[in-house]
Amino acid sequence: MVCTTTLGGTAANVVVANVVHGLMRMTWVPTPVSDEQAFEAIRSGVDALPAGVKMILNSAQFYGMGWSTANLELLSRFYEKYPDYADRTFLMVKGAYNPEKSRVDNAPENIRRSVESCLAALRGTKTIDLFQPARIEKSVPIEETMKALVELKNEGKFNHIGLSECAAATLRRAHAVHPIAIVEIEVSVTSFEEEARKVLATAAQLDVAVAAYSPLCHGLLSGTVTKREDLDPHDMRMHLSRFREGNFQSNLAIAGAIKSIAAKRGCTPAQLCIAWVVSLGNKVLPLPGSTRRERTLENLAAGDISLADEEKSEIAYAMKAYPVKGGRYFDDAEADAILWG
Ligand SMILES: NC(=O)c1ccc[n+]([C@@H]2O[C@H](COP(=O)([O-])OP(=O)(O)OC[C@H]3O[C@@H](n4cnc5c(N)ncnc54)[C@H](OP(=O)(O)O)[C@@H]3O)[C@@H](O)[C@H]2O)c1
Repeated sequence: MVCTTTLGGTAANVVVANVVHGLMRMTWVPTPVSDEQAFEAIRSGVDALPAGVKMILNSAQFYGMGWSTANLELLSRFYEKYPDYADRTFLMVKGAYNPEKSRVDNAPENIRRSVESCLAALRGTKTIDLFQPARIEKSVPIEETMKALVELKNEGKFNHIGLSECAAATLRRAHAVHPIAIVEIEVSVTSFEEEARKVLATAAQLDVAVAAYSPLCHGLLSGTVTKREDLDPHDMRMHLSRFREGNFQSNLAIAGAIKSIAAKRGCTPAQLCIAWVVSLGNKVLPLPGSTRRERTLENLAAGDISLADEEKSEIAYAMKAYPVKGGRYFDDAEADAILWG
């Protein structure tokens, strides 16, 4: 059975599957998958849902090599070929990337430029259901960013407002300006930082949905990547701290523990990780990425797995016994400065 929930804020009446489909690795990889494979992966999830339930698709202005709009262009071809899927999907798009500055730039004029660029890439094939700045710039008051977003929303450029990688206090301030429908943060058994727990608690209080991104630690926990050589040398994961030589080998310990607990439960490691995220709250939606039909379906099915207390304790024990090595991104001060904005 597919488990459903509703979103927060202005999207409180939108019924969705409780597992989001992340599309990033369909295009932001050295060798993107074919349109046919990507389309099948997307359609399989949508087709598994009962009538009236939408599949959330997670994309971004910059999910292409060279920070291009390739992901949105892929979606435009998808919706052109399958127009019926526009109403059956809820498209969330991260943006506010400034190609001239090669970074997120939350100045109002850049947010506008970003939204226009996303709409141009979609070519009118699909409405942007929710737009969110990909990062919160600490130098720009969130109230100013929200004002710019509300103006664009009121102009009909998109329907709902979300935030990504924001701190709990920022979520509260932003929500006071205009209701936030979804907040997107990294949550997994390898990424359960104190600020993530605060965002989860604040979102629950405000009835905001949480899209919990990278629940499989980019494939490390699902067993997809068991050695660094499994990855293309140009795959961006090669630069992630947790995938670096030494850290990667050490992090196989938590992956091994998850694999054993999953085997006992009779599910796959990916499903166990997804079910653990689901256990964190009614509106906490795991956001795994998948480029293959069978994985989209496997991940969706995990939204209906309810973990027993004993299983949750075993996972908590593994998280303590095998602490992850390396930070969430590059362990680089400049990159870390834009986390939890
Ligand atoms: N807000 C942000 O800053 C931010 C940052 C990163 C990502 N995201 C979003 O989160 C999504 C997921 O992130 P992610 O791709 O970094 O990490 P992830 O979901 O933790 O891991 C994805 C990896 O796991 C594999 N996988 C997926 N389902 C599987 C299954 N059932 N069994 C075995 N392997 C499986 C995928 O393989 P295949 O691709 O081969 O299917 C891929 O290699 C992205 O698509 C994006 O939408 C947001």
